[in-house]
Amino acid sequence: MDIPRGPRIIAVSNNKGGVAKTTSTVNLGACFAELGCRTLIIDLDPQGNASSSLGVDTRDLEHTVYDVLIQETPLEDAIEPTAVKNLFLAPSNINLAGAEIELVASFGRESRLRAAVDPIADQWDFILIDCPPSVGLLTVNALTAASEVLTPVQTEYIPLEGIDILLKNLHLIRKNLNPSLPDPTFLCVMYQRTNLADQVVEEMRAKFGKRVLQTVIPRNVRLSEAPSFGQPITTFDSSSTGAQAYRKAAKEILNGTQKRTG
Ligand SMILES: Nc1ncnc2c1ncn2[C@@H]1O[C@H](COP(=O)(O)OP(=O)(O)OP(=O)(O)O)[C@@H](O)[C@H]1O
Ligand SMILES: [Mg+2]
Repeated sequence: MDIPRGPRIIAVSNNKGGVAKTTSTVNLGACFAELGCRTLIIDLDPQGNASSSLGVDTRDLEHTVYDVLIQETPLEDAIEPTAVKNLFLAPSNINLAGAEIELVASFGRESRLRAAVDPIADQWDFILIDCPPSVGLLTVNALTAASEVLTPVQTEYIPLEGIDILLKNLHLIRKNLNPSLPDPTFLCVMYQRTNLADQVVEEMRAKFGKRVLQTVIPRNVRLSEAPSFGQPITTFDSSSTGAQAYRKAAKEILNGTQKRTG
């Protein structure tokens, strides 16, 4: 049985680039925090977008996720508070690009992140991992550490082919590294009312049923502006359609916990 225990460790992953992985990680994290959940965001992308979206200057960091993966620095030492109550960040910067290569020759290379998360997992309600747009060792580390996968799906074109690649990777991870990892939950994003977008949502629901969240995130310019101000949408523009949608999605994900564990 794949009943999650303890904290929910969610890898936000899609091998496709630019599909709102970081936007979803940061804003769902802020919504969970707003709901009173102690939430940690782990930035596992050398682009450091989750870190900068939360107002952290990525050039000037003492400890990053790179040190955690390569030097085995305790994850606790890399965690910083954010301006949002209950929301914390383990930041990354471009150094992490080197980790992808350095890990290849390392012992336990696929499970470094899991080993770092395990000792502190109980301190958190949610740990969200922002994955890079690739299927390399960083993503493998995220999927090995995770108890769940959330996959944002852009509704602007038919995404099903890319999803097959993702599902194949998950199958391999499950077989070799993390047997209890369930199939992904999908979040339809960047929705604009067009025939194509409606068709994509419909096809996703036909193929994946309840694994597709009811909440759909609309295209909203405020969501794309917030990162430059180093703020999640909940504080940048609390009443925007983007903020409302991510709040609804967060509640839906949170309710999933109650159903599974209650
Ligand atoms: N719902 C939305 N409405 C408008 N713009 C959005 C929305 N979601 C994301 N964006 C914008 O789309 C771009 C890509 O989003 P984001 O960086 O979150 O994707 P990503 O999957 O993390 O990308 P990468 O693969 O490079 O890590 C960003 O400029 C972001 O601000
Ligand atoms: Mg990103």
